[in-house]
Amino acid sequence: MPEGLAERAAALRWYHTIALPGGVVTRGEYDLRDTLRRLPFPPSLRGKRCLDVGTHDGFWAFEMERRGADEVVAIDLDDPARYDWPLPRPPLEGEAAQPRDAAFRLAHEALGSRVQRRVLSVYDLSREEVGGFDFVFIGTLLLHLRDPIGALAAIRRVCDGELLVNDVISLSMTLRRRGAPAAALSTIDDAPFWWVPNAAGLERSVRAAGFEVLARGRPYFARNGAGAVKLGWRARGAASLRRMLVLKLGVPHAWVVGRPLPDRA
Ligand SMILES: C[S@@+](CC[C@H](N)C(=O)[O-])C[C@H]1O[C@@H](n2cnc3c(N)ncnc32)[C@H](O)[C@@H]1O
Repeated sequence: MPEGLAERAAALRWYHTIALPGGVVTRGEYDLRDTLRRLPFPPSLRGKRCLDVGTHDGFWAFEMERRGADEVVAIDLDDPARYDWPLPRPPLEGEAAQPRDAAFRLAHEALGSRVQRRVLSVYDLSREEVGGFDFVFIGTLLLHLRDPIGALAAIRRVCDGELLVNDVISLSMTLRRRGAPAAALSTIDDAPFWWVPNAAGLERSVRAAGFEVLARGRPYFARNGAGAVKLGWRARGAASLRRMLVLKLGVPHAWVVGRPLPDRA
């Protein structure tokens, strides 16, 4: 265990709750250990080359490695100016106080990890840049992207096996428009969100990007962690009620498993 791990971990702001050696558990904004139990994350990734898109502190990438992946590549952006957030750009909250990769680096060191973190936008994924992957995971990123289907199409360029998408959905739209794909522009001002689909809309996005859908999961709440922060969005009316629910229950998500379809001749 790296020296002073507990103190070094406590000095950082964490997005993910991650169990590190010596019983150190990071105070993540989100605790995805419950999500992991709900998702069809392959029990063994032995012999597989894996990609984690938008890795943040690396929870999913480290899990791929723990499940025996031969090689794990994790991509993210370090410069927030490269995010394609709605204008005016939402404030960065406390995240600006430390380098974007600081928490990932400490977890990487503590776990003795071989995950390769690369600074690369999902839109720029190409075989020339990163090669091909047997398993790709993208979690809670599509809602931050102006072109979520373009991002999934970029993933298709490098996905030879399965894609697991786990993203935010609108629960009310899922209930109101069961089975009918829909997405709404986020109504929350000053927040880094674009499109919020219903569960059918998330599935339709995966299909529209050129994947066959192999499986899908029921909506569930992705849990907040011990380090959950009170988000500073300006919310009014229904949005303010939604915010309260998110703080209490977590963020509504759904998952979809896809396999790339070949291009039509
Ligand atoms: C909400 S976090 C989700 C983290 C993690 N994937 C999860 O499921 O918990 C979104 C992450 O995507 C990253 N990100 C934002 N825009 C991106 C882009 N265009 N390409 C790759 N990563 C991006 C952010 O820096 C952040 O780490």
